[in-house]
Amino acid sequence: MQLTINGSKHHVDAEPDTPLLWVLRDELGMTGTKYGCGLAQCGACTVLVDGQATRSCVTPVESVAGASIMTIEAVTEDPVGRKVVEAWVSHQVPQCGYCQSGQIMAATALLKQNPQPTGDDIAGAMVNLCRCGTYNAIAAAVRQAAGA
Ligand code: FES
Ligand code: FES
Repeated sequence: MQLTINGSKHHVDAEPDTPLLWVLRDELGMTGTKYGCGLAQCGACTVLVDGQATRSCVTPVESVAGASIMTIEAVTEDPVGRKVVEAWVSHQVPQCGYCQSGQIMAATALLKQNPQPTGDDIAGAMVNLCRCGTYNAIAAAVRQAAGA
């Protein structure tokens, strides 16, 4: 099937129910998207599908054929994603870093849909887990990226 990822078409040979995460990582070598739980719980595998934050570990690849997929590899090509990454750097958000590509994709999805989020909006959208506890820095970076 054909996938559109980061603006490019990719032909992939995968079973229709293969999780998108494995196609990205194993077939296409896009290892910026991480495997955490595999159960839609942690958000490490978050990518954007038609602008929506999507947990790729539980997304059958056939369900996103024809959609526009964005991964962390291209997030700075998006003007909102670039602002998010700049805010992440400015706040030195990551600790171990493992969860951070998913966090950045979740923040990018939030700000693309809601450029001026309230504190409650941020808390409601930024639900990915971080074992290092970077939540306060994440919230501060999202506020900065929103221009607040
Ligand atoms: S690896 Fe997908 S939500 Fe945890
Ligand atoms: S920075 Fe280590 S898990 Fe989030």
